[in-house]
Amino acid sequence: AFPKQVRLAEMSPRDGLQNEAGPVIATEIKTGLIERLADCGLTHIESASFVSPKWIPQMGDAADVMAGIKRRSGVRYSALTPNLKGFENALAADVDEVAVFGAASESFSQKNINCSIAESLERFLPVMEAAQKHNIPVRGYVSTVLGCPYEGDIAPEQVARVAKDLADMGCHEISLGDTIGVGTPFQAKRMLEAVTKHVPVERLAAHFHDTYGQALANLYAVLEEGVAVIDASVAGLGGCPYASGASGNVATEDVLYMLSGLDIRTGVDLKKLVATGVWISNQLNRPNGSKVGQALKS
Ligand code: HMG
Ligand code: MG
Repeated sequence: AFPKQVRLAEMSPRDGLQNEAGPVIATEIKTGLIERLADCGLTHIESASFVSPKWIPQMGDAADVMAGIKRRSGVRYSALTPNLKGFENALAADVDEVAVFGAASESFSQKNINCSIAESLERFLPVMEAAQKHNIPVRGYVSTVLGCPYEGDIAPEQVARVAKDLADMGCHEISLGDTIGVGTPFQAKRMLEAVTKHVPVERLAAHFHDTYGQALANLYAVLEEGVAVIDASVAGLGGCPYASGASGNVATEDVLYMLSGLDIRTGVDLKKLVATGVWISNQLNRPNGSKVGQALKS
């Protein structure tokens, strides 16, 4: 059954900006984006990434971003932490939630985090332990759940295995990433069915990129199965460095428009969200990747 309420996890400051080509985006633009998103009513904003700046230069100012935002109570400001070093930096920056990220594909794991799936899970253990000690919730991502740029199709059981491992090690929520946006609805449903054999749907989030224009259809398919957390990025910001032509997360405006038509509550203000999408697209001098944003911009 469809959920009555959905939490939108806003990805734009992290997934949206991490691959932006050109010079490093000013910290003030990042903090301005995050503050506007909180003002829209979003309660979960992935704000930064404590990864190696050699790998992801756009996230090199993560500590400054976290220090620069005026925080709004009730909002969870989260960040990626691939290892203990990342966790310690995130802790010092006072993030509310951290996230470890693995993949369902060996090749993608190697390219993205320079280790095998098994090694990545081992590397997450000390992060889990430290997070538990400091009472910080940990989210777990699984990438390439509906296809890999190197390996093609990914077996749903392989996704389920990695999701279960992350859940078993203590991740309170598992976000299932169609990293390169290639999936279609039945496939999304089959993948979800395999995962929910091991992890209850209440602990799952859908993280779909929109490269092939399938993200909303795929979301509809998993909403019908009860998924109630959706990752999205205002103006559809983002891309993937390991897949040519890959586009960003599904646009938050488009998801919100669909959800409100389905009578599913989010607590997010569409008008303000559209204005935020217009604002950030102008700041980055980039076309607005949200259809709803295009239609409603005044
Ligand atoms: P490595 O080179 O194997 O790591 O990278 P290392 O431990 O050998 O360290 C190499 C250097 O990086 C050292 O510095 C470390 O100190 C430094 P050096 O001695 O050479 O000067 N270093 C760090 N610096 C800052 N913060 C850290 C950190 N760790 C090491 N946390 C590593 C391994 C994981 C660090 C690297 O591969 C990395 O940072 N990868 C990040 C990849 C990434 O951020 N990808 C994008 C996010 S994932 C994503 O977008 C998918 C998602 O959206 C879901 C989906 O769509 O599917 C989540
Ligand atoms: Mg992503």
